[in-house]
Amino acid sequence: MDKINLRSTGWFGREGKDGFIYRSWMKKMGIPTHLFDGKPVIGICNTWSELTPCNSHFRELAQSVKNGVYEAGGFPLEFPVMSLGESLLKPTAMLYRNLASMDVEESIRANPLDGVVLLCGCDKTTPSLVMGACSVDIPTLVVSGGPMLTGKYQGADISTSDLWRYSEAQRLGIIDQQEMYNIEAGMCRSNGHCGVMGTASTMACMVEALGLSLPGNATIPAPDARRKVLAHLSGIRIVEMVKENLKLSDILVRQAFENAIIANTAIGGSTNFVIHLLAIAGRIGVPLTLDEFNHIGERIPLLANLQPSGKYFMEDLYYAGGLPAIMKELLNHLHTDCITVNGKTINENYSNANCYNTEVIATLDKPVNPIAGVVVLKGNLCEHGAVIKPSAASTHLLLHTGKAVVFENIEDYKQRIDDPDLEVDENSILVLKNVGPKGYPGMPEVGNMGLPTKLLENGITDMVRISDGRMSGTGFGTVVLHVSPEAALGGTFAVVQTGDLIKLDVFNKILHLEVTDEEITQRKSKLVPFEGIVDRGYVSLYQNTVEQAHLGADLAFLKGGSGSIVTKDSH
Ligand code: FES
Repeated sequence: MDKINLRSTGWFGREGKDGFIYRSWMKKMGIPTHLFDGKPVIGICNTWSELTPCNSHFRELAQSVKNGVYEAGGFPLEFPVMSLGESLLKPTAMLYRNLASMDVEESIRANPLDGVVLLCGCDKTTPSLVMGACSVDIPTLVVSGGPMLTGKYQGADISTSDLWRYSEAQRLGIIDQQEMYNIEAGMCRSNGHCGVMGTASTMACMVEALGLSLPGNATIPAPDARRKVLAHLSGIRIVEMVKENLKLSDILVRQAFENAIIANTAIGGSTNFVIHLLAIAGRIGVPLTLDEFNHIGERIPLLANLQPSGKYFMEDLYYAGGLPAIMKELLNHLHTDCITVNGKTINENYSNANCYNTEVIATLDKPVNPIAGVVVLKGNLCEHGAVIKPSAASTHLLLHTGKAVVFENIEDYKQRIDDPDLEVDENSILVLKNVGPKGYPGMPEVGNMGLPTKLLENGITDMVRISDGRMSGTGFGTVVLHVSPEAALGGTFAVVQTGDLIKLDVFNKILHLEVTDEEITQRKSKLVPFEGIVDRGYVSLYQNTVEQAHLGADLAFLKGGSGSIVTKDSH
């Protein structure tokens, strides 16, 4: 192998005391001398954790990556970082996305790594790892954990989106707790993340469309042996990337972000895509604004017939051709000359892809739904924007004016939503305040709040709901999210009152509070300043520095990067 200029030489290539210390303590792990001899050192950034069940198979995946790294003449070193499990973390995994990204950034920068493979799975483990890596910017490749197999219950295919339906059926007394136990066992029956086009699958598609993973990475089910093959090949490829000095900033150009937005429209990806992509763009230094999501890919329809916008599951998508088949259908709309981690362009990677089931992956001529993507709304109720996913909404509610029923916070909602005296009907608009980044804090996935039981009993299955929080990517309904500025900052959203008329017009991208400017100004003058600021620990840091949703909800001081150079030694 030709000698290449390796970052790790600054550790293992040293002589004297420093080199002794750097190498000697590695040798205690049984590592032979020749592995330090100018071989690319590849970090395997692992989010394995039993507290993140979606990523519980990552030790095996890491071993496959290592096998590939060794085969290619590299030297793999696996390391743990903070792992964010969507299902267990309180108050919400989103509160810790930026903290995990700091762990990733500093772990990569501080160590003798020439390249890094990011093992990503459950929702936040993808953006947190990519954000952190962007701020260092060495050769980086993503391997996703893959979706779980489709759940099975009493002959039906089920997955996470059905959770919301079963929950409402239980509230109505249609199913009891014992049946819920049986369903939950059948839903999550294998390794992997949620098996619908929720946020985890959206993130896996995002990294592939950005060019950060090998083609096919997004959809191979976690238990499928081909997932390990892809991990092995990724291990080989990252060593080559180091030799080519192919860095994140070479791949994450403006056009790559546009490709990701176009792909997200076609797959019916999660609304969380918007907030995470904005944060990643902020780290790598690519200008991208929330408003641009309305224009990029505007005419792209929904191609993937997957829950929650459609019918099928991630396992079906893989067998139908996976993301490569969708990318091929989109080629005329993509920047096809963008370089990806395998050194090839989008066109080279996807022009020969095949679709094996047009019921699951539709064509541009005969799409699943002509309405797709995430629509950015503007109006006096959300001066900096709000988002809605129309493909997961009810068509008859996309243009709707109704009276607000306001809940000041999540506790207020839980206390009153089933109050028999609550004045609410199917035309009302449920408004939930103080679930934004600063206000909750952490911006939880409570925006698709359950409907009042008395309306469910009358067969009502959807209403317009508006909040400054987020929604699970597995959720659905006519749900307006990410209202910015959030209520805790004292914008117009903070002064909405029960009985106010609100107009939602998704076709014209408008969210308007039908109250005069004078009245709004007067209400704002009486607002009590937000009192929920925590005064210690990470939460204090978060609340004092987190940006609003329309900017990606990163911590302001984390934007951009500090690069990979460390000038001072430790000894
Ligand atoms: Fe991990 Fe859904 S809970 S992806």
